Amino acid sequence: METVLSGIRSTGRLHLGNYFGALKNFIKMQHDARCFFFIADYHSLTTHPDPRLLHDNVRNVLSEYLAAGLDPDVATIYVQSDVPQVAELSMLLSMHAPVGELERTASFKEKIRKHPDNVNAGLLTYPVLMAADILQHRADKVPVGKDQEQHLEMTRVYARRFNSFYSVDYFKEPQAYNFGTELVKVPGLDGSGKMGKSEGNGLYLSDSDADIRKKVMRAVSDSGPTEPNQPMAEPIANLFTLLRLVSTPEIVKHFTDAYNRCEIRYGDLKKQLAEDIVALIAPIRERIEAIRADDAYLHRVTKEGAERASESSAATLADVREIMGIHRF
Ligand code: TRP
Repeated sequence: METVLSGIRSTGRLHLGNYFGALKNFIKMQHDARCFFFIADYHSLTTHPDPRLLHDNVRNVLSEYLAAGLDPDVATIYVQSDVPQVAELSMLLSMHAPVGELERTASFKEKIRKHPDNVNAGLLTYPVLMAADILQHRADKVPVGKDQEQHLEMTRVYARRFNSFYSVDYFKEPQAYNFGTELVKVPGLDGSGKMGKSEGNGLYLSDSDADIRKKVMRAVSDSGPTEPNQPMAEPIANLFTLLRLVSTPEIVKHFTDAYNRCEIRYGDLKKQLAEDIVALIAPIRERIEAIRADDAYLHRVTKEGAERASESSAATLADVREIMGIHRF
């Protein structure tokens, strides 16, 4: 069975784009592969070293993923810092990570440009820690967005380099997991582009009913069709894309016909869209809130996750120490 691993940032909230995109695929995938999902809180420290926020961010992200359907009885869900062996593996891998290569990483260059006041070594070795996350579980597949592809390529370089330096065939090279055509693209509310691209165009799983209604009613539209069967402008097509995701086929047909007859009232369309989104999000939001408040449950999930994750992590680390010549007296 294939091993799939996904690292989740501990900052940022899940929006409908994540929900219909990667998350739905994760929920399906957890039954078809040996899956690890972890919250990358060590990585968060490279840019967000605030002790008052770190833990709550982990709690929020974890609660959202669990509420949305990741199942801790099926997949291994853990917090990165609960399995600190990864830090040792990262340190060991860093011995074969030339500084020049790390300095040329696109994400590093971007971060030092944006935050010249906080160019720390953790930021420089970010890709090494990410490689350790992946290699410790010998993951075959890693679902990553465009911005993480270079890091995955570096992971393959480290795996190959380790194998060739020590003349072993130990690490396998992880491949990007592509959801391909199954990946639904969810548009934002600001007329163009994907949800989540810019602040304020997204609907979050933690949004209140009132937030959802307000945001949908304010979504960009246009002055309406002027002749029958006119092609839709992008903002309108986007509203229909959202409608198709959350509403019944009858409702979609009703508004499509109204559009084609030039009789559509966008206010009515948005009201319906808002109610159908509320019906989808409200129960998830309630689950998020219940899980967030359930310390005993979160404790159990993360403890079991960490136990399972450290099994494969510790086994890898023992092998790597051995291969590198670290022997106990
Ligand atoms: N760097 C990833 C991101 O920002 C998060 C991450 C950390 C990750 N370690 C990983 C993703 C390992 C995949 C595999 O999204």
